[in-house]
Amino acid sequence: MATDVITLITHDHRTVESLFERLKKGAGDPSAAVAELRALLTAHARAEEDRVYPGLDAHHGVEEHKEAEVLLDALVRAQPGTPEFAETLDQLVESVSHHVQEEETTLLPALARTASEAELRELGKAFLQRREEELRALKGGGAAEPTKAELYEQAKQADIPGRSQMDKDELQEALSRAKS
Ligand SMILES: [Fe+2]
Ligand SMILES: [Fe+2]
Repeated sequence: MATDVITLITHDHRTVESLFERLKKGAGDPSAAVAELRALLTAHARAEEDRVYPGLDAHHGVEEHKEAEVLLDALVRAQPGTPEFAETLDQLVESVSHHVQEEETTLLPALARTASEAELRELGKAFLQRREEELRALKGGGAAEPTKAELYEQAKQADIPGRSQMDKDELQEALSRAKS
């Protein structure tokens, strides 16, 4: 996996935006979309804070992550279809969009100016690893890890190419990429 950290972060941002769209339209199962959004945003924010923000002047970004977390909690508690849900969603969309815009216009360009391409790829690896760890902990509560057979079955359903060649970690990684 030789993807640079800026591409990875930006890709997550676009995924978050498409989840927002899904929720605003009320398409599909809103609770599932909220759960997906929460897992992705939380893992993404942790990975940024632990692997990308150090070395950057990103204190403000951490504050905004906290704000999003509070709104996400409220969204999880709200009943889809109620005015409370719609209002909380609007607040979350506004807060996260503002944050994403700041990252993409200030933080990430600063990183691109100061780090070499090799460093950006190294950071990408570290970011992805930290993000996976967090996603796994959030999904399994740290308990039952899926078996290789279960992962393979999921990979088959997601039609992930090259799955029969993959070991357990690779399956896990390919799956979480496919989902995001
Ligand atoms: Fe971000
Ligand atoms: Fe962020």
